[in-house]
Amino acid sequence: MTAHVQPVATASQADPSLSLYHLLDPEVLANPYPLFHRLRSEDPVHWDPFLHAWVVTRYSDVVKVLHHYSAARTPTPEQLTDMGLASLNPLAQVMVKQMLFLDPPAHTRIRSLASHAFTPQRVEVLRGHIRDITHSLLDKVESQGRMDVIADLAEPLPCIVTAEMLGVPVEDHQQLKIWSQDFAEMLGNFQHNPGRASRVLKSTLAMTEYFRSAMHEQRLHPRGGLVSSLMNAEIDGDRFTEEEVIANCIVTMVGGQETTTNLIGNGVLALLRNPDQLEKLRSDLSLIPSAVEEMLRYESPSQHTARLAPEDTILGGKRIAKRQAVIAVMAAGNRDPERFPEPDRLDITRSNNGHLAFGWAAHFCFGAALARIEGQIAFELMLRRFPNWTLEPGSLVWRTNLGLRGLTRLPIRFGEPEQDAIPALQE
Ligand code: HEM
Repeated sequence: MTAHVQPVATASQADPSLSLYHLLDPEVLANPYPLFHRLRSEDPVHWDPFLHAWVVTRYSDVVKVLHHYSAARTPTPEQLTDMGLASLNPLAQVMVKQMLFLDPPAHTRIRSLASHAFTPQRVEVLRGHIRDITHSLLDKVESQGRMDVIADLAEPLPCIVTAEMLGVPVEDHQQLKIWSQDFAEMLGNFQHNPGRASRVLKSTLAMTEYFRSAMHEQRLHPRGGLVSSLMNAEIDGDRFTEEEVIANCIVTMVGGQETTTNLIGNGVLALLRNPDQLEKLRSDLSLIPSAVEEMLRYESPSQHTARLAPEDTILGGKRIAKRQAVIAVMAAGNRDPERFPEPDRLDITRSNNGHLAFGWAAHFCFGAALARIEGQIAFELMLRRFPNWTLEPGSLVWRTNLGLRGLTRLPIRFGEPEQDAIPALQE
């Protein structure tokens, strides 16, 4: 049977209202789900001529793309030089060694060595620390009866945990955060901001030197953590080079920050907007693990990722040419009614919640176990310690990172509620 294949639309033929570029509009970014819904129902494998990429929004197609397409999407230093962009080479030199941008067999090798270094047992050791860190962050705001969920918890928690996980001085956590935000501009975005390139480059060079001296320090005074375990990981005599350790410390550090911040911030907002679910969770904290999975599905902290077609192929009746870019929108797949009953409803007891928030297949999030523990502890302790959350009045501002979609601030009160104190929630 021959599949019906539609030709690729040009910019003049394509429906501009379906372009993912609309995420640059703050109103669309505040609620991208109607756009995702239109894409999924009107053109699920959509050629976006403005992005010059395919946009895939059905659950089953996102799975196919993440399973079979190439992750080696970052330009090599040689390609950048050919494009006249040699100044960005230090960035490419790091990215081409990061597991996120590799295909087998290079990916399999790096991921296996890294998995030797970062085992479930090591993650479990961090659990007690995460409780202590969360308690101490909540201690600081308790007497005020109000907090900014982002600045007071969602940002510092993953940042401090990341420093502990790496085995670098915890006092450096704010610096790690700044570097991580800079680097994340390239991970979460498809818009270009040439004005920021030199800053991203500077941060990458600074991180490279930071981890080089962290390795040196580990040799002199071993203190454990991921830096040291990546340095010492060995499988059948194979070990990481120094540059590979540095590149994968950077991706692990960046990968665990904005994402976990968004899980906590977007999750608190989702509960505030669904007071019945908030009350259900408060009255039965054993629902926290399933509530966290539902938050990951409902407001995915990392909304999309990209791949390249490994060869000429057909997807959803469209002919995709070898090496064309494909954007897999996990946040859209996670709201696909073909996969999730009532997908736009937050249901903290949802069963069979095979969401795509951590990706799929070989590149499935390396830190998922840690992220889950951080999210579960953050929600548990906030609910145990602070009753009656209400959103402070004022509009919500979403960060300009379109892929790692999260709030800049989320001010709440958690004192005794006045009558009818829950204000109308704004987008
Ligand atoms: C809620 C929190 C998190 C979310 C939503 C998240 C999401 C994701 C997603 C979607 C991917 C796959 C990207 C792709 O296929 O292109 C990924 C990969 C990755 N994540 Fe996470 N992540 C989270 C937390 C973390 C943490 C805490 C760490 C660090 C310990 C981490 C480290 C990584 C790394 C290193 C990869 C690359 C894996 C590979 O390429 O094999 N992530 N993450």
